[in-house]
Amino acid sequence: MAPDTKSTGIQELIEFIDASPTPFHVVAEVSARLRDAGFTPLDEADHWPDTTGDRFVCRGGSLVAWRHRSCERGFRIVGAHTDSPNLRITPRPDTGAAGYRQLGVEVYGGVLLNSWLDRDLGVAGRVTTRSQTRLFRIDRPVLRVPQLAIHLDREVNQKGVQLNPQHHLTPVWGLGPRADGAFAEVVAEAAGLAPGEVVAWDAMLHDLTPSTVAGLDGEFLFAPRIDNLVSCWAGLRALIDAPDDTAASSVLCLFDHEEVGSVSAEGAASTLLPTVLERIAGSRSALHPALARSRCVSADGAHATHPNYPERHRPDHPVAIDGGPVIKRNAARRYATDAVAEAAFVAACERAGVSHQMYVHRGDMVCGSTIGPMASAGIGVSTVDAGVAQLSMHSAREMCGVQDPIDFARALGQFLSDAG
Ligand code: CO
Repeated sequence: MAPDTKSTGIQELIEFIDASPTPFHVVAEVSARLRDAGFTPLDEADHWPDTTGDRFVCRGGSLVAWRHRSCERGFRIVGAHTDSPNLRITPRPDTGAAGYRQLGVEVYGGVLLNSWLDRDLGVAGRVTTRSQTRLFRIDRPVLRVPQLAIHLDREVNQKGVQLNPQHHLTPVWGLGPRADGAFAEVVAEAAGLAPGEVVAWDAMLHDLTPSTVAGLDGEFLFAPRIDNLVSCWAGLRALIDAPDDTAASSVLCLFDHEEVGSVSAEGAASTLLPTVLERIAGSRSALHPALARSRCVSADGAHATHPNYPERHRPDHPVAIDGGPVIKRNAARRYATDAVAEAAFVAACERAGVSHQMYVHRGDMVCGSTIGPMASAGIGVSTVDAGVAQLSMHSAREMCGVQDPIDFARALGQFLSDAG
């Protein structure tokens, strides 16, 4: 691919990541891009048209979009997740100590806690009143979790940073006495609401450093939420760019709550995907044969071999940055990959002219997971777990290559176009 196309694609990915500090903002951003591409939004509470077409539906921080052609050839599905590990504001957050005003937070998902120290943090999410829900985001550096100075923690470099989530992660956001209701007032203003209107929020912190192309020759992308917004973006590109004459119906499902196990009203273990597929098919009797002909890619980040810790990786399955999409296998089904879907994805990579890599976690360490096992169990569809190689997974700031996201989008686009 020409360098110009690559830099255009990466710039679009950067804008996507920076526009999406929370799952709710991901859904808003994806919705806007789908509308621009001619997709029609549907409401789950309405009756849906039984014609072919390009449509999408949102449920909280999750979204399903599809290009419905024919169910005769089944569905080609790409799934990813909209959430990333972070710190979330408690319902009664206003607190403080030693003359500081602070906000109470909870840890969401498998956070690398140290990565949130000494960063310029904003806050964003959704806020509810008695009659409506609104998004808000504050992109000023209003918050910081200050690390303890080395003079007060002399063994930190020998023993590692010890962080108690209850005591040591509470961000400071001002000076003065604790002021009950201060956070609600700030959120109300950010959402364009009167101070008394706010009832509740789903609010979380985000690092304000902009995403950037980096490295000596611009090889890398340094950004927050690479896990898993790179997959959301690649899946979105693949769906939008899929040719009109695709034989199977293409589906993109982006789920919230993967980082905490996917069990929620809109997570990968919910009714969202099976319900939407049934409604696209028009009936249960049309759905089941379609599912039997379907294939799914569970798109999520993969661990590149770390140059400073090669011993943490399986020597026979090295993974390189910009080495192409990584197919992940796990005998205990922490990844959903089976040989049938793997072959379908490998064929798509080959037709797209994209190389691929294989990842297997070390046998003496506990493997991570994805939406793959949950989503494939819910619909009974042969699935392959694949994604872009990265370092620093679950850090507040991660890194990957600049070629891999483009190649992954092309491979996914080919996968959606290849009827089963
Ligand atoms: Co992930």
